[in-house]
Amino acid sequence: MKLEIDQQRLSLEIETLAAISDTEPPAVTRIVFTPTDLRARAWVIARCKEAGLAVQQDAIGNIFARWKGTDPEARAIATGSHIDAIPNAGKYDGVVGVLGGLEAIRALQRSGFRPSNSIELLVFATEEPTRFGIGCLGSRLLSGTLSAEAAAKLKDRDGQSVDEVRRKAGFNGSLRDVKLPTGYYKIFVELHIEQGPLLEREEIPLGIVKSIAAPASLRISVEGAGGHAGGVLMPSRKDALCAAAELILAVEDAARSSGAVDTVATVGVCDVFPSAVNSIPSRVGLTIDLRDTDLARRDGVMKSIESAVETISKKRGVVIQTELINADAPADCAPEVRAALAESCREHGFPFLDMVSRAYHDSLFLARIAPTGMLFIPCRNGYSHRPDEYAAPEDIARGALVLAESLAKLSS
Ligand code: GLV
Ligand code: MN
Ligand code: MN
Repeated sequence: MKLEIDQQRLSLEIETLAAISDTEPPAVTRIVFTPTDLRARAWVIARCKEAGLAVQQDAIGNIFARWKGTDPEARAIATGSHIDAIPNAGKYDGVVGVLGGLEAIRALQRSGFRPSNSIELLVFATEEPTRFGIGCLGSRLLSGTLSAEAAAKLKDRDGQSVDEVRRKAGFNGSLRDVKLPTGYYKIFVELHIEQGPLLEREEIPLGIVKSIAAPASLRISVEGAGGHAGGVLMPSRKDALCAAAELILAVEDAARSSGAVDTVATVGVCDVFPSAVNSIPSRVGLTIDLRDTDLARRDGVMKSIESAVETISKKRGVVIQTELINADAPADCAPEVRAALAESCREHGFPFLDMVSRAYHDSLFLARIAPTGMLFIPCRNGYSHRPDEYAAPEDIARGALVLAESLAKLSS
């Protein structure tokens, strides 16, 4: 079997998809179920159909594109990632796993290989938490990690529920039917950019993930008292933004004092009401994103944050409400998938690094229903979730090649 990745075509496809965006290049913004996201999905589906794949979509908008295997009894093996992009993102997060996965399948087709197990390309719906506040909605539902009832009720910033938004976008049917049985897939493997600097720093072209860090997130609302910026004297203030500022620094401090570099915490949203120059902020909405490779340590930091909430609200006379959005366990990658990836790397003489994924991925949830693995490629300076995110075409092609080899090993 001679496998060749069409690097030029793959690069062109990545550029074409990047142009379907709500921001000017090089920034990419594709929020789930917006007209732009729907156009991008249609474009990807058209590419899958061109490759002769049978395409289906479920009620949350996960896309399944299947290359039928010769053994109808054998369970499918799956690969894929996401194409939704946070505001002001880059071109490669998720897309490398979708278009690289598609090119891996096309390379296998061109080589004359015929899989015994079907090979399925998955494009997960709403991996990014931008719209509904929670990441990996598609794969959470697929794996049964989140119930259909809980998912349906989630709302976006305009107060529209997942159920309303997905139906308007043309995804009907019951969310209950999204869940797949454990063992439905023989394995799942995701190709992704590293989103960190290690591979580039070590000059190693590929990373094989051993485990995925445990993410948690909270929504915080700080309720103080508004008023005239001139009239209300300092001793009588209950400024919600000042309280929020203290909390933000407490979050940073809690993560920094965990004793491990693996603890990371971010406040990425700060909505101030009424947001006027001469009005004391009466209400602030924050989000906290907290992650660690160690579950107990992460939960310890969560406790420190909760105690800071109590202290600050007492001291400042404000009401701080916290809502836990998710607190997920980490996932281990499956030995058989890691072995197939490692063997494919060795066959080509590609060095690889065994590593932890600090970002979360749909793989975190697929790992709950199938033996799962991830393959990383370097990205420049480790940049991701920003417009200058960059992965070199030859690195992407190398990743797609190892993915294709591994899919072949696992599907025969
Ligand atoms: C995924 O985008 C993450 O935030 O890790
Ligand atoms: Mn992302
Ligand atoms: Mn991603």
